[in-house]
Amino acid sequence: MHIKNTALAIVSIVAFGLPAIGAAASAGGHLQPANTDVANTASLQRGARNFMNYCSGCHSARYVRYSRLAADLGLTEAQVIENLMFSGDRIHDTIQTSLRPEDAARWFGTTPPDLTLIARSRGTDYVYTFLKSFYLDPKRPTGVNNLVLPGTSMPHVLWELQGYQAAVYDGQSDAANETVHKQFKGFELVQPGLLSADEYDRFVRDTVTFLDYIGEPMQLKRVSLGFQVLGFLFVFFLLAFLLKKEYWKDVK
Ligand code: HEC
Repeated sequence: MHIKNTALAIVSIVAFGLPAIGAAASAGGHLQPANTDVANTASLQRGARNFMNYCSGCHSARYVRYSRLAADLGLTEAQVIENLMFSGDRIHDTIQTSLRPEDAARWFGTTPPDLTLIARSRGTDYVYTFLKSFYLDPKRPTGVNNLVLPGTSMPHVLWELQGYQAAVYDGQSDAANETVHKQFKGFELVQPGLLSADEYDRFVRDTVTFLDYIGEPMQLKRVSLGFQVLGFLFVFFLLAFLLKKEYWKDVK
């Protein structure tokens, strides 16, 4: 009886508990699919460039070595030094930020988190949507707010590329209770940036692809190894099947 109950408990935790954890992680507005593809080397290279140009001024990626990037992204060490390294680092160094924690605390009220594992801890869809959800809000010290992380202290660092957008709400005032029910309807571009909406999506997707990769560099190998193993199993299955037919053809 005991065993049955325990088994039942385990099954219900696995069956119902896991989706609940997933749902909790994705709470906070509707996330848009990032559709990243870490096997796309060109996208990874663009993402690395975006990260070094637009993020590394505030965020470190302190578990990633430049030399590893060179190897995984199909670049020579000379190319990495020339195009991705700005802070006088050496090729075997990890990616640090030049922002000092004391300054960060004074300017932003918090230290920007290390981004090595952000795509794994928050999910690629979250980071993708976060970077697309800054909107004008004069009440914030940075002049912007974020739909996914309300009250964030991160400025809209990509404003030059995306431009500025306003959040549009469907308002319904409830006179009896003197309350207003606001429902988010969408964003409206009020000041265009250098990129079109599609180009900006692609820029963000490349950046998130890079973050996805640094969160687990092994995944490049894991995926290709997975296909090789499946391929081997398929060929082996064919051989075994043909052999079985051969052996059994006279036994009726
Ligand atoms: C000017 C400094 C600055 C730059 C540049 C910057 N960030 Fe941030 N970022 C911050 C700060 C500050 C926070 C902490 C925000 C908070 O906790 O409210 C943050 C937080 C984040 C978070 C965590 C959000 C969360 O849910 O906790 C992500 C993801 C992020 N940044 C991504 C990026 C990416 C990608 C770039 C480059 C395109 C970038 N940041 C560039 C300052 C910066």
